[in-house]
Amino acid sequence: MDKQQAPKTARLILGDKQIDLPVMVGTENELAIDIRKLRSETGAITFDPGMVNTGSCESRITFLDGEKGILRYAGYPIEQLAEKSSFTEVAWLLLKGELPMADELASFEREISRHTMVHEDFRRFFSVFPKAGHPMAICAAAIGALSTFYGDVRFDSSEEERWKAAVRLLAKMPTIASYSYKHHLGQPFMYPRNELDYTANVLHMMFATPCEPFAVDPVIVKALDLLLILHADHEQNCSTSTVRTVASAQSNLFASVSAGISALWGPLHGGANQKVIEMLISIREGKTTAKKFMELAKSKDSGVRLMGFGHRVYKNYDPRARILKQACHDVLARTGANPLLEIAMELEGIALSDQYFVERKLYPNVDFYSGIIYQALGIPIDMFTVFFALGRLPGWIAQWMEFHDDPNAKILRPRQIYMGSNQRDYLPRQKRVSAAKKPALAATR
Ligand code: SDX
Repeated sequence: MDKQQAPKTARLILGDKQIDLPVMVGTENELAIDIRKLRSETGAITFDPGMVNTGSCESRITFLDGEKGILRYAGYPIEQLAEKSSFTEVAWLLLKGELPMADELASFEREISRHTMVHEDFRRFFSVFPKAGHPMAICAAAIGALSTFYGDVRFDSSEEERWKAAVRLLAKMPTIASYSYKHHLGQPFMYPRNELDYTANVLHMMFATPCEPFAVDPVIVKALDLLLILHADHEQNCSTSTVRTVASAQSNLFASVSAGISALWGPLHGGANQKVIEMLISIREGKTTAKKFMELAKSKDSGVRLMGFGHRVYKNYDPRARILKQACHDVLARTGANPLLEIAMELEGIALSDQYFVERKLYPNVDFYSGIIYQALGIPIDMFTVFFALGRLPGWIAQWMEFHDDPNAKILRPRQIYMGSNQRDYLPRQKRVSAAKKPALAATR
């Protein structure tokens, strides 16, 4: 339905009340009912756990069409950016809303390369963590701690200070990520190398050692750059909404992104990429078979899900998964076969023809194939979600900046429907009956 055909209002009838609510139309003809006056005019609120049907903001950064499997950054299709762009160029696009001129990109990359080192005192930060500590916990803590070194970039900070904080985050996150990995290995931290491009520098800091030269394979660099591009933003997903929620209290950029990293870690979100590989390995090791696993994934009581499948928005093939599936073949042709790819494709084949998955419109998402490429690049499993965070960082920053500039921005404070006890008077201890003796009452709570 295009803008001209769209209704101007939606009529709500609630008991003896009737109100007309304005209808908003997005540039891609999405319709939204503006309920900002709903409670003041009817006394009622809406109820929408998980905000499945609720828009939290207007945004110009990323557009998704879940039914058609469309993803665009600032209007540019993800397929074209994946083929023709670079991660630093995509980062600029998300932050500025336009593709950079050549001199703008060169200056942006130079600016980033001059901030890749962390304060020498900050390097000691990693020594307090157990070697086996999960790197997502370390990265969330480290990014939050950056504000103690690089200034508490507040909401009322100047645009220049906010931009510098954004550059510092983009520059230092790869350093922090690789330090968390080197700490885990007990290897020396590798300083960033400013003559390398962004993605090559990530691989250098992750895998080089002071003992010998380390040549970065351009095919591996290109594959990692593609992964970072595909993860760069995804509108109001869980971790981005978390960044916006923390931003809504006017917390600084580092604190907001630290919270986003923690949200991304969850196995239903970015943590799924690690779970997918663990799932594929359990099948390869014969602990189960693809067919048995799929039966478990369809059973409500099993607590098992086909990780890397399903999506809140995509009810079609995630376009990023489609690109990554092809990239798996390209990368493995260079790095060597990985039996996990065959298992993944077997699971996909079973799922796409199984009624349970078909009727629920469950398709592979970005996490289903990404882990196979991360593995081929030599990235260890518990660093997969850290690399998801590396990719998502420009999107989080762009969304934080957009929230900062949004005239409708308000502190996020949802309502609730109270279902607890009605008013009752305080009972002296000697008159109380323990809950165990009140099964009837407990059942009604
Ligand atoms: C990311 O939002 C984003 O954009 C996220 C992301 C991004 O770039 O930021 O795209 C990245 O997080 C991708 C998703 C990674 N997570 C996983 O792969 C974990 C496995 N998938 C799910 O748990 C699930 O599909 C979610 C969390 C992704 C979406 O969950 P929803 O939208 O809340 O859907 P739901 O849990 O209500 O599921 C609907 C039905 C249920 O069955 P019924 O109750 O209708 O019988 O589908 C079933 C679910 O049980 N279902 C699955 C399933 N996913 C959903 N059943 C088996 N395996 C699955 N993977």
